[in-house]
Amino acid sequence: MGEKLIIANWKSYLSLAESEDLTRELANYVKNKKKLPELVLCPSYPALLTVNKIIEKNSKISLGAQNMNWREKGPFTGAVSPIMLKEVGCEFVILGHSERRKHFREENLDIHHRLRLALEQGLIPILCVGETAEERRAGKRDDVVREQVSESVGILDINEDDRIIIAYEPVWAIGTGDAVEPDDAVHSHQVIRQTIIDAFSELEYNKNFQIIYGGSVDPDNIEGFLEHDIISGVLVGSASTKEEKFKEMIEAYINR
Ligand code: PGA
Repeated sequence: MGEKLIIANWKSYLSLAESEDLTRELANYVKNKKKLPELVLCPSYPALLTVNKIIEKNSKISLGAQNMNWREKGPFTGAVSPIMLKEVGCEFVILGHSERRKHFREENLDIHHRLRLALEQGLIPILCVGETAEERRAGKRDDVVREQVSESVGILDINEDDRIIIAYEPVWAIGTGDAVEPDDAVHSHQVIRQTIIDAFSELEYNKNFQIIYGGSVDPDNIEGFLEHDIISGVLVGSASTKEEKFKEMIEAYINR
């Protein structure tokens, strides 16, 4: 699969005006670039339509949402359906982010339902998995990641054209400035890869899956992750909300 991914997760950081300004800057910035990573912006729900209006004429940037409901429509107050996400131009959707698991109590089975519906609706899911500091200290990191992958993805039926991105995001590395060492991330990528191969096959892994790293990625450490073949890109929170840092990360990719 082509270029590596830089996926920006703007969480609840940016206002509508700030999302609009940053998108405009980025769209201008990438306009004349020949080589680029695959760029995906995931703004807050209220900013999706505005961001899409800016990028829709610019095939170099795609749109993603930060979550979605596990049902298409109905009496689900406060929930956003994948059909609505597609209407505003989303191609990608983040699922199972550790902040969703922690603050909103989402569990592997809910995440599985969302994943299945996302694929049915033609969205590309970005499934987040990763261990807490406590789980790592207890020597359980591989088991936790294996379980999260098996319980949400392993029981899916996948079709030929499905594309599924799995983001290894150790919880303790998110928003702390304390990214894992690239070699350490590679280890978890291998665990995820093997879990997928065991559940499906090597052929399907190669065709349908990509694994990326997330957790305190910034302009100084991005290269260390992107240089590994098994790491197909990065999911970036805080650093992607700052124009200069975002541009530096794109440059780091271009100059590899
Ligand atoms: P961070 O967030 O880059 O701010 O650590 C990453 C994420 O939560 O996806």
